[in-house]
Amino acid sequence: MWDALKAKAEAVSGRAILGLFDDTRADAFAVQTQHMRFDYSKTNIDAETRDMLLELASSAGVAARRDAMFSGNKINETEGRAVLHTALRNLDGGPVLVDGEDVMPGVLETLDRMEAYANEIRGGAITDVVNIGIGGSDLGPAMAVQALSPYHDGPRCHFVSNVDGAHIADTLRGLDAKTTLVIVASKTFTTIETMTNARTARAWMLDHDGDPSAQFAALSTNLEKTSEFGIPAERVFGFEDWVGGRYSMWGPIGLSLMMAVGPDGFRAFLRGGQDMDTHFRAAEGAENMPLMLALVGIWHRQVLGHASRAVLPYDQRLGQLPAYFQQLEMESNGKSVTMDGGAVPVESGPVVWGAPGTNGQHAFYQLIHQGTSVIPCEFMIACAGHEPELRHHHDLLVANCFAQSEALMRGRTLDEARAKIADKFDGDELERQAAHRVFAGNRPSTTLIYPKLDPFTLGQIVALYEHRVSVEGVILGINSYDQWGVELGKELATALQPIVEGDASADDKDGSTRALVSYLHMNR
Ligand code: F6P
Repeated sequence: MWDALKAKAEAVSGRAILGLFDDTRADAFAVQTQHMRFDYSKTNIDAETRDMLLELASSAGVAARRDAMFSGNKINETEGRAVLHTALRNLDGGPVLVDGEDVMPGVLETLDRMEAYANEIRGGAITDVVNIGIGGSDLGPAMAVQALSPYHDGPRCHFVSNVDGAHIADTLRGLDAKTTLVIVASKTFTTIETMTNARTARAWMLDHDGDPSAQFAALSTNLEKTSEFGIPAERVFGFEDWVGGRYSMWGPIGLSLMMAVGPDGFRAFLRGGQDMDTHFRAAEGAENMPLMLALVGIWHRQVLGHASRAVLPYDQRLGQLPAYFQQLEMESNGKSVTMDGGAVPVESGPVVWGAPGTNGQHAFYQLIHQGTSVIPCEFMIACAGHEPELRHHHDLLVANCFAQSEALMRGRTLDEARAKIADKFDGDELERQAAHRVFAGNRPSTTLIYPKLDPFTLGQIVALYEHRVSVEGVILGINSYDQWGVELGKELATALQPIVEGDASADDKDGSTRALVSYLHMNR
């Protein structure tokens, strides 16, 4: 099927996306649920291509793999684990079995404990919560806390991830240690950055009349390590190894979000995710939003070869969504080995990047419009903002969002460019100036539009992208749930630490590393 798809891509490469539009295309190449609309009509996908992509998904066994995931099968084969973040948002509590045991009673009990603790903190003297974690133990809650700021009615939330002391120093400066709660969020409770920051925060609290024995909580699967660190069991919120780090914000790792927006808001977020799960499991073929989002991604990356995709939320509060998607997509699908140990036959997942509109328009959109590489863009926009009194701002935001996808598709021809400036230039100078004002156009984009960025909708968006990643992973034949690619750097950093500190020799390192160590030692 890959060859057939590539042949199809070749055959349609010269045609204009704009020329594909008739009275039906806009609806026929969109997926609309009760809660949002995903428009992929501004791509070069036609009905035949879509059929081929759907066939690709079906021959890769996407539906069977999806069902195996929801059923608690150990589809994370390299780690021998189930993949059940969906159980964390299974609010109806229907049974989910792992090794024959229903995990739901444990999930719901932890959710109840989180709610009781969140209510206690929200009703008490704590003014600030500092979540210390990294990767999946940071990006999700940090993104969501910012996304849902209109719903905050709890303590202020701060996030410390980087081992760079600047991060924790800047965060703690100005906080009152007596009214600050520190949440140490780490699935493994061994991650060096997090444990280093946690110890620094504990020392700060002791030095500033706080009480770490009462003002520290932990979120982890490793209850032995949380107790070794000295956090009492009643303030430890555990989860199981079948929750992957980058899929973990639905459970205890979301505690800071729950403290910010309250248990009801958090439950609405879970319900949004759960509703997307129901849709993903039930909707057929082209009606299935995560499936179609994935297939558009496959078309752009693996078939057409576009190396990156831009995530462009026209929503200031989704400012951290591109970073969150970076981990979700790139740590999941940035792999070149298939599940059975062979080589992935096509390109792995793309580089994912982006920033909110309209800011990006004044920074990197130049390259998206006129650079030599095509960058498929994924726009996102709410129909309404949270500031009704600033409706004209939102109208401008929407106009800009729609204008960008239109401009990317439509472009501007040389004739049009000439006509624009014919009153200012003529002759050779007109030709020279006009050439700079040409837009090739025919650049693909999709738009996800939703009524308002509320907790339910945010849950929908996150679950939509999670399932997109899983579908793409199945089609590539890879394991989207491990991350061996982060290990080598961690091992070498551990080995380099004594060398950096001057307690070990760099002699067995390569020439560049030796020279860098030497420069460091001479200049600190
Ligand atoms: O380094 C990669 C990683 O393992 C991520 O997958 C994970 O989200 C992050 O580190 C943090 O891990 P932990 O929650 O165990 O501290």
